[in-house]
Amino acid sequence: MIAVLNGANLNMLGRRDLTQYGSLTLSELESRVYAWAGEINLTARCFQTNHEGALIDHIHEAAGWATGMIVNPGAWTHYSYAIRDALEIVAAPVVEVHLSDIATREEWRRQSVIRDVVDHAIAGEGPDGYRLALEWLRGTLAHG
Ligand code: DQA
Repeated sequence: MIAVLNGANLNMLGRRDLTQYGSLTLSELESRVYAWAGEINLTARCFQTNHEGALIDHIHEAAGWATGMIVNPGAWTHYSYAIRDALEIVAAPVVEVHLSDIATREEWRRQSVIRDVVDHAIAGEGPDGYRLALEWLRGTLAHG
């Protein structure tokens, strides 16, 4: 079971800056995630919250059942050491995903404080980044 966790403001996809995040809504994105996972024999469970503590609680809980994790913490990526520390506890492989290419945007978005505790990072691929993350996890899990 793959935990797919989206953080602050990702529930507003479709109404945010279309040039950065595209027009897909979160529920459309989650539907694609479920379908993409199924195509490669994975099962996904999606969760989104705008509350930092709720994301931390969910990471702790998912650490107990997830065989892999995909996380897009939104703006928390850039400054939440608490989310970084929660992800450090997860033994399963973790992929950081961003719809936009954070490396080429504002200076403050270029840093990811979670980067040193994730196993793989994908940015700037839009919704496809989640598919690529699932495929990366599929490859990693297949090789034990
Ligand atoms: C984001 C990039 C973040 O900088 C931003 O705060 C988001 C979304 C992305 O998916 O591109 O909310 O994580």
